[in-house]
Amino acid sequence: MTTGNSRLIVVSNRLPVSFRHEKGVLKVEPSSGGLVSALVPILREHGGTWVGSPGIAGLGEEGGSNQPEEAEVERLLSESHDNAYSYLPVHLSAEEQANFYEGFSNEIIWPLFHDLQSRCRFLPRYWDYYQKVNCHFAEASLKAAKAGDIIWIHDYQLMQVASTLRRKRPKSRLAFFMHIPFPAPDIFEKLPWRKEILEGLLQHNLVGVQTLRDERNFIACVRSFLPEARIERHGDKRIVTHNDLKTSVQYFPISIDFKQFSDTAQKKSVIERAAIIREELRDSHIALGVDRLDYTKGIPERLRAFSGLLRDYPDLRGKITLFQIVVPSRETIVGYQNLMAEIERAVTHINGEFGDTSWVPVHYLHRSIPREELIALYRAANTALITPLKDGMNLVAKEYCAARSDNDGVLILSEFAGAAPQLRTGAILVNPYDEIGVAGALNRAMHMGRDERRTRMSRLRAGIRRNNILQWRDNFFAAME
Ligand code: F6P
Repeated sequence: MTTGNSRLIVVSNRLPVSFRHEKGVLKVEPSSGGLVSALVPILREHGGTWVGSPGIAGLGEEGGSNQPEEAEVERLLSESHDNAYSYLPVHLSAEEQANFYEGFSNEIIWPLFHDLQSRCRFLPRYWDYYQKVNCHFAEASLKAAKAGDIIWIHDYQLMQVASTLRRKRPKSRLAFFMHIPFPAPDIFEKLPWRKEILEGLLQHNLVGVQTLRDERNFIACVRSFLPEARIERHGDKRIVTHNDLKTSVQYFPISIDFKQFSDTAQKKSVIERAAIIREELRDSHIALGVDRLDYTKGIPERLRAFSGLLRDYPDLRGKITLFQIVVPSRETIVGYQNLMAEIERAVTHINGEFGDTSWVPVHYLHRSIPREELIALYRAANTALITPLKDGMNLVAKEYCAARSDNDGVLILSEFAGAAPQLRTGAILVNPYDEIGVAGALNRAMHMGRDERRTRMSRLRAGIRRNNILQWRDNFFAAME
């Protein structure tokens, strides 16, 4: 680890635990998503402070807080906190949450950066709240950090935090990692605040993105919208000089704790549970989908491809089951509620059309799954069907391979997932918009021989074992030095 004696302050929109109200009681549960699963092992090993929101908002009025509830959140946080690191919660009012999180983050940046610009609502007030809430995060980070500490800011919700930090503490060591894709200039240019966003990012000493494609897009955007910036190449990284500040820009494909997944997958209880799942599904070919509920994950498109498979290859009916897990997410946003209804209609339709007394074509779970049960499902599944329309990385693809310590299983992966360049030699790559192509890939996976499956899976596992999350962290901190 190369952070020397400096402490690590991680800043992300969400803490690794989130709160919600259930029947009048405050409940705490692990947060979902790739960011949390990647960063927890790092903080556990390194220690430090995690600054983030507990996920529930306070009262409606601007700046309104709900002090008794905030105190309760803090009490529960101190109880649930990991001994290795501490939490520093940033409390938001309902209005801030609505405009910063649901609005700017998830109705502008999220769809735009996933190339889905027609879903964007460019409301000017969203931008005002985004800046204001980013200031709250900056102030909390200043409370947590001493001079010399590394402040490591994460993801698209917090692209303006560094502007305040740099103003208040000019010598801060600031790093940023973008977990989602960075769009090409012809998409990014739609953003009314494109210059401000780039200038905010260029306040960091290091900006990390997921893939070479994202690095090229980021640099192309800087060239187009900040033409006064100077860009040089230094080995693997680009150095952007803007307003006398130098920022390194580099890509670091994020990963998982390979060993933990692989070891858990070899536990007797997990192997037994996988066998039970297979038996319960009558040894049919299990194609597994695991996604946060999100329109970028391509779930309706996947269901259409599966329906096409059953229509076009009638001999496969009764022999294949799609096991689709959808982890609830962003439930207060209308687009997400509509998506859930669309998925449920499609599942009902497929089961109604093709199912019979002995076979349910699609098993659909709408909830999060405990880690060991998920790993048992990975082991039980013959194929992982991971077909996002666009994805920063997609750690489920890597988790599936890490769990296959038996060197079996086929990975079907979207060519638009950030993981595709790393996993292309072992996976079957598909275009998620091409329903016939996805159905064909499933048919191919079903008929793939044991030797080919073994060769492909060993290759996938070797790559992920090497490029694991600790390697990712070391590369990132080495670049920070
Ligand atoms: O990886 C993208 C991301 O937005 C992360 O920032 C977050 O952890 C995850 O998806 C889940 O999203 P949300 O925090 O909006 O539920």
